[in-house]
Amino acid sequence: MNIAVVGAQWGDEGKGKLIDILSKDVDITVRYQGGSNAGHTVIVGKEQYVFHLLPSAILRKGKVCVIGNGVVVDPKALLDEIDGLKARGIKVTPKQLKIAVNCHVVMPYHRVLDGLRETMREHKIGTTGRGIGPCYADKVTRCGIRMVDLLNPRVFSDKLKDNLREKNEYFRKVFGQKGFHFDAIHDEYVAYARRLKPYVCDTALFVNREINEGRTALFEGAQGAFLDIDFGTYPYVTSSNTIVGGISSGCGVAPTRINKIIAAVKAYTTRVGEGPFPTEFDARMDNEIRTKGKEFGSTTGRARRCGWFDSVLVRYAATIGGYNELAIMKLDVLDELKSISLCSAYRYKGKLLKDYPHDYEVLCKAKPVYEEMPGWRTPISGIRDFAKLPAEARRYVERMERLVGVPIKFISIGSERDEIIVR
Ligand code: IMO
Ligand code: MG
Repeated sequence: MNIAVVGAQWGDEGKGKLIDILSKDVDITVRYQGGSNAGHTVIVGKEQYVFHLLPSAILRKGKVCVIGNGVVVDPKALLDEIDGLKARGIKVTPKQLKIAVNCHVVMPYHRVLDGLRETMREHKIGTTGRGIGPCYADKVTRCGIRMVDLLNPRVFSDKLKDNLREKNEYFRKVFGQKGFHFDAIHDEYVAYARRLKPYVCDTALFVNREINEGRTALFEGAQGAFLDIDFGTYPYVTSSNTIVGGISSGCGVAPTRINKIIAAVKAYTTRVGEGPFPTEFDARMDNEIRTKGKEFGSTTGRARRCGWFDSVLVRYAATIGGYNELAIMKLDVLDELKSISLCSAYRYKGKLLKDYPHDYEVLCKAKPVYEEMPGWRTPISGIRDFAKLPAEARRYVERMERLVGVPIKFISIGSERDEIIVR
């Protein structure tokens, strides 16, 4: 069975933990979009690992990890991750890691442009500054540099020259910056190419052939549905299709081969960066949940904004994502609350909205309609059986399930690998 795991909110739903658990039973784990903006945390015993480009299954021996063509790869960030693992005694071999020959490469000018564009904007997006947007923009405007180009010295030189000709003008005239030197970038990237070459192949052929031979794949989504470039809270989104629809274009595996879609959802809601957030807490609750849930970005360290669970969002994500199962993450963070609110709809100008509104102004001004439920006020991390959860916790989960309309299969009640309830 080939499974997809995606985020149904604004990212950071706990996909890393879920993927780490599920990858035990699959052969190949595939990233298909995003880049080093992702931060997927896996905790094994006393060790914590945060993956940005490497698929979260990289810790599992004998499993293959694939970085698909839809991912934008920053070679420096990737090599840093590989070296970081090596320093901790985990070697990443070309048998274990495959990088798509046709993925796009994040260049230094992408990272710089990401920052400069933010400083020019009146309404900042709050990007991770990893050059993601500018790299995807180059891909779409057809001046991007792909992994395969990096491996061919003549093609790489030509493309880099072309890019710098245009971009340096832009850096100088629009931003009053110095621009980039061809030689420096060229030599740096040729050195990366030399190191990455053993890992590079046609990953679409690889994954499809493996599936043909009976092996199973897990597609690891990055970010979440409301950071999707088409369906998210645009322009406060990332630059790729984070929804399930991104899988096929992002790794060359057809929709017919994806058998199950699992969405990770936090038991509440968080968001990093700017943009509308209807159920955002007031300052006191925000602080409380951020502290309990350790809600700080794993890529940038920024404080995550926190709020109540919003079923308007997740219901919409489930509709466009065709979810088969939900995984509720971090339920234990709500352990001490006296009462818990769930948003079932929005109210805007006297009207009740049950469907996600795309209008920016509506999203900013809509008031959530809450259902209030009593909390369970007892630690639940030791529980492994749904029936043994306090009745209030069961009722909360069941209410989420009803409001979203997708069965809840997993409930995470702690950060450790085994702290999960499977229903
Ligand atoms: P994982 O995979 C949470 C957010 C940024 C910003 C917006 C655009 O860990 O869930 P970008 O650098 O992508 O151009 O930034 O998207 N963002 C994330 N937020 N989790 C992530 O990844 C994110 N990746 C990007 O904060 O608001
Ligand atoms: Mg994250």
